[in-house]
Amino acid sequence: MQNSPATIVERNKQFTLTSWTAQDAWNPISMVRAEGVYFWDEQNKRYLDWSSQLVNVNIGHGHSHVNKAIQDQIERISFAFPGIATEPRAKLAEMLSDIAPGNLNKTFFTLAGTDSIEHAMKIARLASGRQKIFSRYRSYHGATFGSLTAGGDPRGLANEPGVPWIVHIHDPYSYRSPLYRGRTVQEGDELLADLIEDTVLFEGPENIAAFLLEGYSGSSGILQGGEVYWNRIQQICDKYGILLIIDEVMSGFGRTGEWFGIDHYPNVKPDIVAMAKGLTSGYVPLGAVMVSDAIAEYFDEHTLWTGLTYGAHPLGCAAGIANLEVYQDENLIDNSRKMGKLLRHGLNDLVEKHPSAGDVRGVGLHHVIELVKNKETREPMSGFNQPLSEGMQKVGASLREQGLSTFLKWDWIFCTPPLVINEGQIAEGLSILDKALGIADDYCS
Ligand SMILES: Cc1ncc(COP(=O)(O)O)c(C=O)c1O
Repeated sequence: MQNSPATIVERNKQFTLTSWTAQDAWNPISMVRAEGVYFWDEQNKRYLDWSSQLVNVNIGHGHSHVNKAIQDQIERISFAFPGIATEPRAKLAEMLSDIAPGNLNKTFFTLAGTDSIEHAMKIARLASGRQKIFSRYRSYHGATFGSLTAGGDPRGLANEPGVPWIVHIHDPYSYRSPLYRGRTVQEGDELLADLIEDTVLFEGPENIAAFLLEGYSGSSGILQGGEVYWNRIQQICDKYGILLIIDEVMSGFGRTGEWFGIDHYPNVKPDIVAMAKGLTSGYVPLGAVMVSDAIAEYFDEHTLWTGLTYGAHPLGCAAGIANLEVYQDENLIDNSRKMGKLLRHGLNDLVEKHPSAGDVRGVGLHHVIELVKNKETREPMSGFNQPLSEGMQKVGASLREQGLSTFLKWDWIFCTPPLVINEGQIAEGLSILDKALGIADDYCS
């Protein structure tokens, strides 16, 4: 290799830093072009994008309608600061108010998910005059100090002690949590909610600004509470005057077969919703925080103490409008529901067939398989916050070798393809997984 030009991977490794890993351990796939559910590396090898990159390229790669909208917008205005009113900003916010849950009709535009969460928490604290935010241990809400503390994921432990006003609560992890052992999911949800209510009392309801919860749990393993859990969360919020912030950064925009993950629970009425990812499918960075009419009214007469130079970026807003048009014109929410059923069916079959496939969770095109060494004892393949075991590493290598790109974490394989996926492509992904799980089976007792 000495005299040949360095590869894209080598140059990336030499001159850039990457996230969440020691740099020597970074062994990336390159991408030189992408279309629909596929992308190609610098050796022209094709990969099925089984994770929609970071669960954000919902409409698939290279959609010409969005590409054109961005090009058209840059010809008109490439930038306007957030104090200037623009057409794409108004139009996107109007469109969002049509699809958002409950009475959320006003939007503050940000750049991504992390800053949407920071702003959601700030807005809740300003509007309520209270300090504390309750969030789950097994959750992820972003990478800055406040958002990383809010996510109880152990990625935040290097950030300790983080911000002091976050309180973590336990999770509806019915497959593993002791709260659910020997109980039905509904009974476990009730017990968990009782303990959460106790925690509210211990922390002083008068101090609690908001609960911050993912509308549908994502990178923490798709650990979703049921109807009982969500109804109780809403009741606790109502009883103690606590605001409900729903993080739809990952679960929004059709991912779960509804516009938003929280739409699966019609009794839940969020006061604030944070969005990003599928809002533009990553074509241009953009995030959004939507607020209820009551919160919007509060800020009619009170200053909104925040701002971002690139907030409400015209290119991001144009990409957002075009994305919403694609979701609607191509019935992608419906396709997510339909293809999600097919995916779930196939994943259930894999769980039946493979001793290493312990559990499958999710809905729509938002699924995870949890790998175990033993189905009876549920001994995990890697374990909480452990490096990938040899078995998981071999699974990862097999998926990659077979041309499937997704992310693995601890015991989990994420199955979250773009919403434009079709039956044949679902079958292609399932057959690759089937082969990789065969390798994991060798690590079972
Ligand atoms: C639920 C959730 N919230 C917030 C974030 C942070 O979003 P971003 O990486 O765009 O800052 C993520 C990212 O994966 C997420 O999954």
